[in-house]
Amino acid sequence: MSIEQKLERIREEVSVCRRCGLGKGRTKSVPGEGPAQVEIMFIGEAPGFYEDQQGKPFVGQAGQFLDELLKAAGLSREQVFITNVVKCRPPSNRDPLPEELSACQEYLDEQIRLLNPKVIVTLGRISMGKFIERGRIGIIHGRAHNVEGKKVVTMYHPAAALHQPALRQTLIEDFARLKKFIGAGAPSAQTDRAVEGGPEQNPIQKQTNEIGVSQIDKNFKKEDSSVRVSSDEPIREDSKPELPPEQLSLF
Ligand code: SF4
Ligand code: URA
Repeated sequence: MSIEQKLERIREEVSVCRRCGLGKGRTKSVPGEGPAQVEIMFIGEAPGFYEDQQGKPFVGQAGQFLDELLKAAGLSREQVFITNVVKCRPPSNRDPLPEELSACQEYLDEQIRLLNPKVIVTLGRISMGKFIERGRIGIIHGRAHNVEGKKVVTMYHPAAALHQPALRQTLIEDFARLKKFIGAGAPSAQTDRAVEGGPEQNPIQKQTNEIGVSQIDKNFKKEDSSVRVSSDEPIREDSKPELPPEQLSLF
């Protein structure tokens, strides 16, 4: 079976999936889309209102900004694969629950395995959390990390800039640097699922080479993820931030 066919099989499975409660409330599942041969894969959080209606990832306002960001990176949608950590929309766009993340993870893991991209770009805190525990996006945004031999670049979520306009330029600049991570050499160390704080919290983290891939030391002790220091960014544009943007905690 070709990679295309295997990706299509995931799409079909997801469309009838009831592994978690999100399956009940969806209009359409959003398995993700893009060609089978890609160098970069983008992973967001979960479908929002428009994605649920259309069955496609990032088609709302955040998606429009993502298109701009891709342009800043010299990329187009046709060249990349875009998906989410969960494939069905959470009610009222709440964060996916741990049990939903784990119920859905097999689909994403299989997509990653099939696509085998040179670079995985995480969009936002929840997607970052799949690869890096306790990462502080305010510190590690735009950086590449070596996670289990994969190059993972952690970005702010495009929707964050819709609520905090100051992040717009940061995102554009981070995306403009994205291409240098492709073909900049395979990461050199295998690591466990990473735990990373900023350099000031995690002295074990080393900046190792010219492209700034941070090697995440597998011996660094994992800490309780409940002390994870990151913000509650409102991810999907039709979600209501609980606080006005100026009161949202720092990203
Ligand atoms: Fe299945 Fe994932 Fe949808 Fe849950 S979110 S029903 S695990 S496809
Ligand atoms: N936000 C996400 O994280 N994913 C989408 O597909 C749309 C908005």
